[in-house]
Amino acid sequence: MNRTILYKILLFAFITASGFSLYFYQQSQVDDEKIREMMAPESDLPMYHFALIGEEMNHEYWRLVGEGAKTAEENHDVLVEYGGPKRSNLDEQLKLFNMAIKSKVDGIIVQPLNDQFTPLIDQAVKQGIPVITIDTDSPESKRDVYIGTDNYLAGQLAGKALVKDTKGEATIGVISGSFDNALHHLRVKGFTDIVEQVDGIEIVAMEQSDISRVDVEETAYNMLTEHDNITAFYGTSSYNGVGIVAAAKALKRENDMYVITFDAIDENIQLLEKGDIDAIVEQQPFEMGYRSVEKMLAIIEDKPVQDVYHTELSIIRLVDLPNRNRQKGGSS
Ligand code: BGC
Repeated sequence: MNRTILYKILLFAFITASGFSLYFYQQSQVDDEKIREMMAPESDLPMYHFALIGEEMNHEYWRLVGEGAKTAEENHDVLVEYGGPKRSNLDEQLKLFNMAIKSKVDGIIVQPLNDQFTPLIDQAVKQGIPVITIDTDSPESKRDVYIGTDNYLAGQLAGKALVKDTKGEATIGVISGSFDNALHHLRVKGFTDIVEQVDGIEIVAMEQSDISRVDVEETAYNMLTEHDNITAFYGTSSYNGVGIVAAAKALKRENDMYVITFDAIDENIQLLEKGDIDAIVEQQPFEMGYRSVEKMLAIIEDKPVQDVYHTELSIIRLVDLPNRNRQKGGSS
């Protein structure tokens, strides 16, 4: 082998070895970076970790609550873990609340369906975890703040709308989302306190139903067959209107039936447009979610907070839709 070939081989070997060294050096830098990321100091994690627990994840109303909370999360150094049963389930909701306390989150935002939540709220607060109630209050507990609808006032507003729209003449069936849940109880109480004052109005039937539409339809159907003089329905939950309308249609009673229900979810708005629902009590679920995160931060940062923040309420009728759509950037 002559010298030139030998030099070429040596040069080739040198270049190859240098290439490999460079490659492995770069690779080790990448790996170091990954390890550094994995062992990232706590400061890279959001400063606070909140749990938000709602009634039913598979529901437009609760999706909007979650969107509000997530929007607030984007604007602050906080992680909001949002959870709840897929379909309304008291035990599951209590279990999630318990888990949030055990995992020592920095704050818990919860919808306390009834007084079974009170000991848990008190326990969390005793352990130094602030609690904000949302959508439904638990005023007898040690919760820090309530953010949501004034549910008694909402019932009164519904009662006044019905009295106005029916000109004080109606035979009413009331469907409550649940006789056990605080918010439905208040919505019924506010409503009855108004309509009972009017001579031409009588409540002839009052039933509770699961918050699902299928259950409401069956309940409304039975009420209508037992009391064929019902001319108006009041439903205290989002899907009540949908179920009532379906039952009235099945019995060919939709034309002379007045229906008022809660929540401006898409299906209710569509039924309002068709004239099947006459009025909707609109709540502000997005705002509840958004403000609950902001107020929780205020509590943690020792800023002054009020005991109660009531979110806006309004009655929507068909005539209000064009204006409402304009305000929301809609087309009509
Ligand atoms: C109530 C919520 C409930 C939702 C679904 C709303 O009107 O405020 O508490 O979870 O309806 O039924």
